[in-house]
Amino acid sequence: MDKKKMWSGRFSSDTNELAAGFHSSIAFDRRLYRADILGSIAHAKMLGAAGIIGQGDSDLIVSGLNAILGDIENGLVTFSENDEDIHMNIERLLTERIGDTGKMLHTGRSRNDQVALDTRMFLKQSCLDVSAHIKNLIGALITIAEDNLDTVMPAYTHLQKAQPTTLAHYMMAYCEMFFRDCVRFDAAFNAADVMPLGSGALCATTYPLDRQMVADELGFSALTNNSMDAVGDRDCVLDFLYACAVCAMHLSRFCEELILWSTNEFSMVSLSDGYSTGSSIMPQKKNPDMAELIRGKTGRIYGGLMALLTVMKGLPMAYNKDMQEDKEALFDAYDTMSACLPVMTGMIETAAWNKDTMKKSAGAGFTNATDAADYLVGKGMPFRDAHEVVGKLVLYCEQHGKAIDALPLDALQKLSPMFGEDVYDALSLEACVGKRAVYGGPGADSVKKHIDKIKAFLKK
Ligand code: ARG
Repeated sequence: MDKKKMWSGRFSSDTNELAAGFHSSIAFDRRLYRADILGSIAHAKMLGAAGIIGQGDSDLIVSGLNAILGDIENGLVTFSENDEDIHMNIERLLTERIGDTGKMLHTGRSRNDQVALDTRMFLKQSCLDVSAHIKNLIGALITIAEDNLDTVMPAYTHLQKAQPTTLAHYMMAYCEMFFRDCVRFDAAFNAADVMPLGSGALCATTYPLDRQMVADELGFSALTNNSMDAVGDRDCVLDFLYACAVCAMHLSRFCEELILWSTNEFSMVSLSDGYSTGSSIMPQKKNPDMAELIRGKTGRIYGGLMALLTVMKGLPMAYNKDMQEDKEALFDAYDTMSACLPVMTGMIETAAWNKDTMKKSAGAGFTNATDAADYLVGKGMPFRDAHEVVGKLVLYCEQHGKAIDALPLDALQKLSPMFGEDVYDALSLEACVGKRAVYGGPGADSVKKHIDKIKAFLKK
């Protein structure tokens, strides 16, 4: 194979071997082959249509590129380290196939705007793919919510029992987080959906390129407005990495709860055998490895975001080779999200919820104390005074090992004569949840409305 570099004209000796290996990116940017070829096809068509190259040459380039695309997808192409990156590899393959006409492809283009284009195309697809995974997870959560509108469980602040809620309300809290993730990936998609080709190396080009035609051909909604910014900008990659980081944080929090809830101490959920692992020494063990691994993978996604933010912080205008460091972070975040989300969905779909334990747990720990105070408020006591009375009541209950609603009426009345027979109904878990009917609360109608909203979003 010809070892001559594409830019060898100005050079009198070869690249040092160590240096060549060091700056080569083909080992990872080969993943951009499809975007690169489709981008080049659009560019070549435009060059022909604008009369910048002959129509025959344009057609030859397009058919050559299509043939290369087919061969890559059939595993028939080996990329060369010597050609540094995916862009040079494909151009070399083209010229080997169709001869000197292949050398016309790069007219009015630089690798700087080319890599910006490829990355944006890859990003757009990535946003759609990750969103689709998130929507599957949301679908699984909705199924659990619909089945558990009345399944009472404890809710916590500071990881101390706070108030009763339902499993449906809990699952829909995560739905809301994942819904916001979809919105963030949508925004990242829009940020990527701007076409940079025509920016050249940095100060555009003297050729009368039809940028709009390229944008239309590739399905981009807008054109970049400044050629220097277009080649020196990686904001849209950061937007994607940020969306991944927040979603990974949500997954991690959810996993943390599943890990906690599946302990013998909580026993509120049993993860299925399919999503658990055993121990090589302790026969009794069933470990939530998948949940732990998803929680753990958050680290590498944060790492990618921090890495690229740091890469970009000191860069002068416009393109600098540092920016090649964007790709591994992007690919790794995409792969990690694509791996974690389906596992999370499967783990959730197959989990068994221990409803009796949940209910028992919700009934302990004075989760109905706020409702006891609200009961007294209903009888005419100011809330601050009611808070004080119920505080004393809880202290008394704790000392006597009783729940509030397990005390006889005369014991309750010692603390306030306002307690009456109706207090027992008012303090039942079902009442505590049912009375929280305000939109956003755990009352079944409120949760149902939320479910409908998210379902409508999923249908869109
Ligand atoms: N492999 C390079 C990257 O990913 C492509 C752009 C190269 N441009 C340059 N002037 N060296 O950033």
